Amino acid sequence: MIFRQLFEPLSSTYTYLLGCEETGLAVLIDPVYPAWERDLEIINSLHLKLYSTVDTHIHADHITSALRLKKETDSKIAFPAFDNIPCADIGIEEGKPFRVGSLELNPLFTPGHTDDHFSFLAGDRVFTGDSLLIDGCGRTDFQNGNPETLYKSITEKLFGLSDDTLVYPAHDYADRRVSTIAQEKKRNARVNAETNQDDFIKLMNELDLPYPKFIDYALVGNRQCGVCPHDIPDRLEEYCKQMTLSPQG
Ligand SMILES: [Fe+2]
Repeated sequence: MIFRQLFEPLSSTYTYLLGCEETGLAVLIDPVYPAWERDLEIINSLHLKLYSTVDTHIHADHITSALRLKKETDSKIAFPAFDNIPCADIGIEEGKPFRVGSLELNPLFTPGHTDDHFSFLAGDRVFTGDSLLIDGCGRTDFQNGNPETLYKSITEKLFGLSDDTLVYPAHDYADRRVSTIAQEKKRNARVNAETNQDDFIKLMNELDLPYPKFIDYALVGNRQCGVCPHDIPDRLEEYCKQMTLSPQG
């Protein structure tokens, strides 16, 4: 498998490029709008063809580049089937492997951060979106988030994977790139193998995080598979602009 971990600095998002060596087909997990050109350059430089993008959930902090990449490359758009998004070509469901050439991504329904959230298991790696982060987890106070549900998704589903499974989250705000299930079970400060459900719920309910500054535009834009809203204020315009800086990739 060809693999790249790509970072978008504005939203601190990791986008994952997975490529099939036999067929040359590729998939991007959680591509971010301002980085679409950078991502496409990398795909082209590896002589891959983008088969599909896939979003782990409807993001509140950035706009997906799914639609833009479809226009550029004729790639398909995959979203959780749960969302019933008219512009999606593929509906992700648990138990229905998502195949790209010889790659197989197994969707794991991991709600709690949002009610539509999926993680993807691909061989020895799990792409956890905003459910399980490195030494953290996604917030649960928007988009029908629910701490009890997230606790179950993490402790029953993700922590049930093999200890050696590599954990690749959708975000990291401290330059960490990868973890393992064993490490998160042992060291995750919010939810580890010893954390009890009531303590986790209390912790999440008391986080008192600020209102996400881009959410009102991102949800609208992402339900259209990645459209920058026309009424976006100047101070948020960079969320829809192409990147001028690409520190990684
Ligand atoms: Fe999210």
